[in-house]
Amino acid sequence: MSSAGEDDRCWADCMDVAVRMARRAGQVVQEAVKQEKRVSSKSTPTDLVTEADQQVEDLIISTLREKFPSHRFIGEESSAEGEECILTDSPTWIIDPIDGTCNFVHSFPMVAVSIGFAVKKELEFGVIYHCFDGTLYTARRGHGAFCNGVRLQVSKEKDISKALILTEIGAKRDPATLDIFLGNMKKLLSAPVHGVRIIGSSTLALCHIATGAAEAYYQFGLHCWDIAAAAVIIREAGGCVIDTTGAPLDLMSRRVVAAGSREMAEYVARQLQPISYERDDHDQGTRP
Ligand code: IPD
Repeated sequence: MSSAGEDDRCWADCMDVAVRMARRAGQVVQEAVKQEKRVSSKSTPTDLVTEADQQVEDLIISTLREKFPSHRFIGEESSAEGEECILTDSPTWIIDPIDGTCNFVHSFPMVAVSIGFAVKKELEFGVIYHCFDGTLYTARRGHGAFCNGVRLQVSKEKDISKALILTEIGAKRDPATLDIFLGNMKKLLSAPVHGVRIIGSSTLALCHIATGAAEAYYQFGLHCWDIAAAAVIIREAGGCVIDTTGAPLDLMSRRVVAAGSREMAEYVARQLQPISYERDDHDQGTRP
């Protein structure tokens, strides 16, 4: 049995590997964005995937598996292909090779590589690399959050009428879902908040909560690989990440509210009408 100190050193070493891996993968994405893209769709016509998503995920997982053969891996594209998406107590890497695939397809400059790491179902570290501008967000549990090595601090704003709110749309676009999505946005806009933004990458939007550039983020329909790394980064920057019900975050639930403070997160959560999505750890087939 290993001691807490040994584990801490071990996860620190894993995080160093994650940082190198995210930069390397990010360079592959930077090159791929200049090439012609072969685009197809997964669960819905707007849930896009490219060859680059699959190649980058293969690169990340095969490299990490060679270094850490006893660890488990959850990746966006392997899950889409039917690999198990279940969090166990084993050390588990949770990977989004290209977050913002639609942005990537359009060369819209909000695309990231996201690598999270959990042990005994607890998130230990997160690394997010912005592929267009090279910004690196990192955090390890108990050791602070950083952007290019500079310590991060969430916004201290508690007044919702002075808040900038971020969200993402998710893959479902049926009329009932869109009505709820737009209704939620209308409710917040008429709070009134300062503004609502959608940038097309859940992980980078969540990093903006960690930097204090925005006060809150909410979304229904994101996946565990969209939240895992970012949740550590936000918490280590002093923020709060919870379920849209107000309960503790459930990585597999596909629901999240993140904010600079618990009060702000709970306020936003109370405004939201839920949109239901199948859990990440439920059906291993098509998953809208
Ligand atoms: C998606 C993006 C999108 C969000 C989705 C994510 P992907 O990730 O972050 O903005 O709305 O929920 O799954 O598919 O580009 O990796």
